[in-house]
Amino acid sequence: MGNLRAFRGEVLSVGDDPLHAPDAVAYHADGLLVVEDGIIVARGDHARLAARFADVPVTPIAGLIVPGFIDAHVHYPQMDRIASHGEQLLDWLERHIFPAEKAFADRAHADALATVFLDELLRHGTTSALVFPTVHEGSVDALFEAALARKMRVASGKVLMDLGPDGLKDTVESARHETEALIARWAGRGRLSYAITPRFALTSSDAQLAMAGALLAAHPDVLLHTHLAENRRECAAVAARFPHASDYLDVYDRFGLVGERSVFAHGIHLSDAMCTRLAQSGAGIAVCPSSNLFLGSGFFHFGQADRHGVKLGLGTDIGAGTSFSMLYTQGQAYQAALAREERLDPFRALYLATAGSARLLHIADKVGALAVGQEADFVVLDAAATPLLARRCAGASLAERLFAMQILGDDRVVAQTWIMGECAWDKRAAPARQEG
Ligand code: GUN
Ligand code: ZN
Repeated sequence: MGNLRAFRGEVLSVGDDPLHAPDAVAYHADGLLVVEDGIIVARGDHARLAARFADVPVTPIAGLIVPGFIDAHVHYPQMDRIASHGEQLLDWLERHIFPAEKAFADRAHADALATVFLDELLRHGTTSALVFPTVHEGSVDALFEAALARKMRVASGKVLMDLGPDGLKDTVESARHETEALIARWAGRGRLSYAITPRFALTSSDAQLAMAGALLAAHPDVLLHTHLAENRRECAAVAARFPHASDYLDVYDRFGLVGERSVFAHGIHLSDAMCTRLAQSGAGIAVCPSSNLFLGSGFFHFGQADRHGVKLGLGTDIGAGTSFSMLYTQGQAYQAALAREERLDPFRALYLATAGSARLLHIADKVGALAVGQEADFVVLDAAATPLLARRCAGASLAERLFAMQILGDDRVVAQTWIMGECAWDKRAAPARQEG
């Protein structure tokens, strides 16, 4: 028998999409999570499990235990450019982002940022993420090394962009060579996985997109991670460059980049035909509502995607996104849905931020639902973290409390973050300057 320990507290998870599985919400007001060597071996009401695990040391947890958040789309090199003023996507990239990404040619800079970035994820309750680094091979090594040290579940891969600006571009050959080397070095190590990452259609030549498709076909365990139909001017530029493609998704499709391992960020401007193809291929969309509002891109159309059964997860898209908090991002998703007169249920928002994103990243067997057999990555949420939240949540139902935390909450609500049954962040133990 390995190292057994148990956690007693209020436990909530949403392991399936409540839209299709109304009983997906799993809740224990007084629950027990039993963990052996980082893996959940039992989960249920304390009253039901206590006798069976009477010898196991129990850690009482004050707060609501939910699965660790899974950020399905985020750029670590952009964290210091968050809140950059004044532009929509294409000008924002040129003015604010590309200069910042050029600095990642320096490995020491990449190491420094990877460290702060992952610590910031943990502080916000995010335990897994699909991450954009930069075009530089060393930016991937820096991120994976830091993630390995923290035992975090991170997927990433060198950005492919042979049509990028000077100082931020590769070639078809260097991209292929470096991607192969990185896959050999990192894929499957610890909790890491690889994602072939063409930035978007506009920054790769046809030859590079074709090379990315060949890499994807050659490596059955890697993901494909890119951007899709985020901004109107971007969409017009894609249509102008690829006149023979039937739509933006078809550009990727023609190069073999659309399949069940594909994760597309945004999807603000999708047609029914694109949704049909996404659903049929099993590809997913990482919905990034705070980014879409910040860059004036628009509001994700949940109703349209749901009509077609498109797989969805949730992402912050830092640095276009305005918060690392996946709680806050759930609240933003609610507001994006409402802008189109659609309702996003708080339990479904939690699903998108956990098991939904896990499905997108092909890690739903490992994390996202606090299910028996999964890794014990969880977050402890404090519904009394601020005076206002405490007032709003007093006497409130579970759904009301969850919704209030999504609308009013952020890192202040995250009391603890646990990785594989080990505490990786504790707000009470943190230096005073980091407290909310
Ligand atoms: N499209 C291409 N690159 C980017 C990026 O860095 N951020 C966002 N939001 N969209 C992109
Ligand atoms: Zn992005």
